[in-house]
Amino acid sequence: MIDTRLAIRGGPPAVQCPALDIFDWPIITPEHEQAVLDVLHRGAMSGTDVTVQFEEEFAAWQGCDYALGCNTGTAALHCAMFGSGVGVRDEIICPSLTFWASILQCYSLGATPVFADIDPVSLCIDPGDIEHRITDRTKAIMVVHYVGHPADMEPIMDIAHRHGLKVIEDVSHAQGGHYRGRRLGTFGDVAAMSLMSGKSFAVGEAGMLVTDDREIYERAVAFGHYERFDARIQTGYLRPLMGLPLGGQKYRMHQMSSAVGRVQLKHYDQQCAEIRKAMNYFWDLLEGVPGIRAHRVSKATGSTMAGWYNPVGLYVPEELDGLSVTHFAEAVQAEGSFCLPGVNKPLHLHPLLNSTDIYGHGKPTRTAHSLYDLHQPPGSLPVSERINSRTFRIPWFKHFRPDIIKDHSAAFRKVALHYKDLLADDPGNPAELGGWHFFKRS
Ligand SMILES: Cc1ncc(COP(=O)(O)O)c(C=O)c1O
Repeated sequence: MIDTRLAIRGGPPAVQCPALDIFDWPIITPEHEQAVLDVLHRGAMSGTDVTVQFEEEFAAWQGCDYALGCNTGTAALHCAMFGSGVGVRDEIICPSLTFWASILQCYSLGATPVFADIDPVSLCIDPGDIEHRITDRTKAIMVVHYVGHPADMEPIMDIAHRHGLKVIEDVSHAQGGHYRGRRLGTFGDVAAMSLMSGKSFAVGEAGMLVTDDREIYERAVAFGHYERFDARIQTGYLRPLMGLPLGGQKYRMHQMSSAVGRVQLKHYDQQCAEIRKAMNYFWDLLEGVPGIRAHRVSKATGSTMAGWYNPVGLYVPEELDGLSVTHFAEAVQAEGSFCLPGVNKPLHLHPLLNSTDIYGHGKPTRTAHSLYDLHQPPGSLPVSERINSRTFRIPWFKHFRPDIIKDHSAAFRKVALHYKDLLADDPGNPAELGGWHFFKRS
């Protein structure tokens, strides 16, 4: 007789196929090794020749006029903020559900984050929760295409145009993705992204800024790229300042990263296409299973999930008699798959965004410069605060290997269909779910 018990109850795990290379990332070949060795043997680690080549190729791929390589995504976003003119007493509207580097750098510019809630289906900023937060100090909207899903750019751009705001896109989770047929990172005034090795576009420690706006590009250069802040700069008010970085930062990309990036670029679109095939297959197999929903875009819209960075599912506990996502995920893990409850913790609940006086202003840094009471207490962003009990992380398949993917989807299906066996000893969710960052997967 077939033993159909859940693995957490002593039954056989659903995942029987070995994972092989299906989760390995990045895919490094002798082509990468040779590119890095060339940099090392030339002693060119600190130059910019390879970086400039990478920037030119990246800009052509992205479809933009300027690309600026940085040593991290955090640095690229810092440059994008300064490039957009964010300064003292300005406000940036940003989703609370994101990694801290979408926004925290604005403190060092004397600016203030203002958080908007997210849409519970896309997990990106809710365009309907932006406009009422705009004040005469709002300078920019920071849009994050969160865990691969494109944000709803049409209404966001409409709001920005009507209020004369800059739009910065954080494309760290969605390099190469599309919204209604158009490349992410080409909607706003400027975009910036992480290319660290956990991302789908995995280079090492690196970041990239892209824009069509010459002044934004030159301000970004002036902020953290001292050796390129020279006679090539055309923006009149920047020219007398040439030679020293305005931000006191050194944000140059390491050329071993640039070399890896050039090779990655050649293969990235094709690798993403395979990831999308694999991830869509996983979700297609789970269509109609109660309690779980795909976090993905419909093909018919012309939008794509790019490399499907850190994929997640949406959890509907009401369909499973209130079973906690924590216990659900434990049971899936026992079946031999990967599942963790929650995503990022909402930033507005951390002390750094509330009470902490970092620089000695004598008041919380969050509001050290602001003219308004911008405090956002618990309860102020209900969707963001609830979302960790309604999301779970899923396996990130890098190859289309149907037999392996079938086993993993069977693990999720089995747990969802046997949920009643888990209700009696469900400990519920802990007080806090999710993390300030995503730790590395197995
Ligand atoms: C949404 C988001 N923005 C910015 C960053 C910062 O990038 P980096 O780690 O390359 O500094 C990351 C990731 O690390 C991120 O996930």
